[in-house]
Amino acid sequence: MTPEAIIQLEDVTKVYGAGDAQVTALKGLSLSIEAGAFIAIMGPSGSGKSTLMNIAGCLDRPTEGRYRLAGEDVSGMNKAQLAHIRNRKIGFVFQSFNLLPRATALKNALLPLMYNRHAPRGRSEREARAREALAAVGLAERLHHFPNQLSGGQQQRVAIARALINDPALILADEPTGNLDSQSSAEIMGLLHELHARGCTIVMITHEADIAAHAQRTIHMRDGRVVDLPDQRPPAAPPERTLSDPERSRRAKWQSKGAALVAERR
Ligand SMILES: Nc1ncnc2c1ncn2[C@@H]1O[C@H](COP(=O)(O)OP(=O)(O)O)[C@@H](O)[C@H]1O
Ligand SMILES: [Mg+2]
Repeated sequence: MTPEAIIQLEDVTKVYGAGDAQVTALKGLSLSIEAGAFIAIMGPSGSGKSTLMNIAGCLDRPTEGRYRLAGEDVSGMNKAQLAHIRNRKIGFVFQSFNLLPRATALKNALLPLMYNRHAPRGRSEREARAREALAAVGLAERLHHFPNQLSGGQQQRVAIARALINDPALILADEPTGNLDSQSSAEIMGLLHELHARGCTIVMITHEADIAAHAQRTIHMRDGRVVDLPDQRPPAAPPERTLSDPERSRRAKWQSKGAALVAERR
């Protein structure tokens, strides 16, 4: 095993259901993701992306095979042990935000602290931490808003604050921009870049090539397996072409948006 791998899957199989209804969602998948990477996962609907995410996120267990998270074999752990690891190490971001509709932004963001036995116990300390996380995603002025009083982009930022609150090593995002307009998508990608720059490993499922282009590496899935596809990104442009390279200028645009977001928050 590579010492610096945060996710190490070896020959993982996942079977749902039984008998005639049986579906094999992962078919002997092996994958290694290095700590600190920014990875995109692409593949057609039904290829097993969310199943992979659920296993990587300790929300589910492989039927067969081995999963090591930051060097620790979690394949045989029970649900309580998995919940503990998940809470300490992993932040989740979903396409549909998954916020509690009757809870304010503040309450939603501090939710993971309730399950973290190492978190501060006092309400005011917890709220202070949630306020800090919400300020970090640019929502200092929206602490007491309910999800239905926020735009899609703002709801996703609450979800990112919630994902950050336990200071996770790994962020798993399943189509984080799937329900967002392009401006909000840009903001969310700016935040993910910022988290990555802070040392967080980011694994993001997307079906949009321009979103995947933010990642350092794209993993392609087909039919429950990782497939080798040539990297479809244009090769790095020679210096004299730099300014006209659409890939680079688009990246520069994203980066400046991310930087602007950070500046706005300071
Ligand atoms: N909870 C489940 N029970 C039964 N089958 C499932 C379940 N979750 C996913 N599947 C099946 O597993 C396969 C992979 O699904 P999924 O991982 O959601 O793919 P993707 O996210 O790439 O669209 C699909 O055939 C899907 O129908
Ligand atoms: Mg899916």
